[in-house]
Amino acid sequence: MSEQLFDRILYGGDYNPGQWPREVWDEDMRIFEKANINTATVNVFSWAKLQPSEAVYDFSELDEIMEMLEKENYDIVLGTSTAAMPAWLSRKYPDVNRTDFYGREHKYGHRHNHCPNSPSFQKYAKRLVSKIAERYGDNPHVKVWHISNEYTADCYCENCAREFRVWLEKKYGTIEAVNEAWNMDFWSHTLYDFDDIVPPSYLGDGISDNMTAFAGIAVDYKRFQSDSLLDNFIMEREAIREFDQTTPVTTNLMGAYKGLDYFKWAKEMDIVSWDSYPSYEPDWAHVSMMHDLMRGLKDGQSFMLMEQTPSQQNWQPYNSLKAPGRMRVQSYHTIAHGADTVQFFQLRRTKGGCEKFHGAVIEHVGHEETRVFREVAQLGSELAALGDQLIGARSDSKVGILFDWDNYWAFEFTSGPNVDLYYVNQIQHYYNALYKKQVQVDMLHMDSDFEAYDVIIAPVLYMVKEGVAEKIEAFVEKGGSFLTTFMSGIVDQSDNVHLGGYPGPLRDVLGIWVEEIDALAPTAHNAIASASADVLEGQYQGVLVSDLIHLEGAESLANYASNWYAGMPAVTKHQYGKGTAYYIGTQADADLTAQVVQLLLNEHDIPVMEDVPAGVEVTTRTKDGKDFVFIMNHNDTAVETTLDYTGYTDLITGENLTSDLALKAFDVRIATRILTN
Ligand code: GLA
Ligand code: ZN
Repeated sequence: MSEQLFDRILYGGDYNPGQWPREVWDEDMRIFEKANINTATVNVFSWAKLQPSEAVYDFSELDEIMEMLEKENYDIVLGTSTAAMPAWLSRKYPDVNRTDFYGREHKYGHRHNHCPNSPSFQKYAKRLVSKIAERYGDNPHVKVWHISNEYTADCYCENCAREFRVWLEKKYGTIEAVNEAWNMDFWSHTLYDFDDIVPPSYLGDGISDNMTAFAGIAVDYKRFQSDSLLDNFIMEREAIREFDQTTPVTTNLMGAYKGLDYFKWAKEMDIVSWDSYPSYEPDWAHVSMMHDLMRGLKDGQSFMLMEQTPSQQNWQPYNSLKAPGRMRVQSYHTIAHGADTVQFFQLRRTKGGCEKFHGAVIEHVGHEETRVFREVAQLGSELAALGDQLIGARSDSKVGILFDWDNYWAFEFTSGPNVDLYYVNQIQHYYNALYKKQVQVDMLHMDSDFEAYDVIIAPVLYMVKEGVAEKIEAFVEKGGSFLTTFMSGIVDQSDNVHLGGYPGPLRDVLGIWVEEIDALAPTAHNAIASASADVLEGQYQGVLVSDLIHLEGAESLANYASNWYAGMPAVTKHQYGKGTAYYIGTQADADLTAQVVQLLLNEHDIPVMEDVPAGVEVTTRTKDGKDFVFIMNHNDTAVETTLDYTGYTDLITGENLTSDLALKAFDVRIATRILTN
């Protein structure tokens, strides 16, 4: 699939005219036009209407909706409607309903809850999607297929149990190999037959989503459920491909959602799309990291912002309004990090159900004389003026952070050493250090091309699977700078410890070994002092865990300065081949983290911006020899900066930019210029 999938920024969003009387539709068309809305995502939740009973399919309403949108030249994002099942399906074929972690068989209701291994779901979903694809597959207005909606794991029913056994047999071959992988001599868990295998629900070896008696089986079950839903996605995609071989296919993802291995999923998707709903107290570094993760899923390819709210949400504990200007800067922020679309959930606010308090382009009042509409229209005209200049632009970076769902699962399933260890928080801790210095980051996976980067940071690389240590060694040997932390190199793909001292296969490259891992309760911290004053300055703190490190070729940059292990190394550096490998044995405070990260950046002269005011972000995309520097003020107050963009033009206003750029509250500038070499 080519990089530039669209010829304009898709601007619009979820549209559910089927939930409204016909006369409202004309009004919708009139109002959307005023906002430069050019796309509608339809048919996401319409199965009940499309197939009112097992034998009857009815496309009359969807035909009318499509015709209306075609007439107005909309780009259509076409849903497949399989994320919410019709009542008849659930009643007649109860195997479509899930069994939850606690072993409770669910009844009809809700959405995002089919059993992925239900033969009835597979049969009827496939049949429905085939009919939709047959009918609309050659429609030139359909720009993207939107399969299902926000796929969500897990099911523990008998069909899943049966398929889990098949999945395991394929992976391990023999029951002996399963016993070995899960270390089943522990607690006399030896399995004699694949039929002995029970999904790790609460009724089996599971305790909760973060606790298990056997991490081996728990992690494999996560992999299996992710694969099962992915098979559902592939099944729908193939049904579409029978009738339409070219239109890109996506499904809307949810950032760092734990249930699905999105890197594996992205390989099957033509374009990544995701739904961005920052909390009521947005942490913009976190939102940035989520966008970068979504862009990283397909190695830098642009993504779609499939959903955001124009103002309000309904499902947060506190659903604050987006103050005037906030939605605009948030939209540009998404584009800055790699989006080629800006889409809302939803275009007209529903009158009933749990989303009646969820914001929309057209509010309950029903007309366009609203603050929210005016802001949507303003942004619409700006995006229309940008044309396709930014579509497919890249966000190149020399710094990568490793993110891995196997690690996410295994790390959070560990029993000990500290219950407060959360994977995404640890990744975010390092992302923040770079974010504060305005250093652009690519989120990497285990198969990424490491050698395209100068610096790779792999926080809590707990599970080191086959080949990964060798890849890291090769990266460092050739001159790369690598940083990892406590709780790294501990287990293999089945969650069995790499024996011979931590950090297992990373020992050589790091030049250390870790003898013990201390845990610190929430109120405790260790003092840390520089061991080499010309490299690190000052006194710091470490929390959560403390590794008791021995040097095996590495040098200590900082030592613990309190506790009975005071004097032992806390931060180390190892020269390995042409590169360096750093290790931080505790959760270092922001200052120490920033200083260590800076050491890696210095080794490659990677530029940083230290004096940008808090809440201001500078992010660049590049296309056709042109730089697009997004300068965004997330603050609700004006700020003065020392940013100098003399020689650049603002892409939005056409203004020539200068030094000491002043930014209004929620301001956005896109500084652009033609690159000289
Ligand atoms: C999700 C769903 C939408 C809608 C929104 C509301 O992202 O995909 O259908 O429920 O949340 O925020
Ligand atoms: Zn199931």
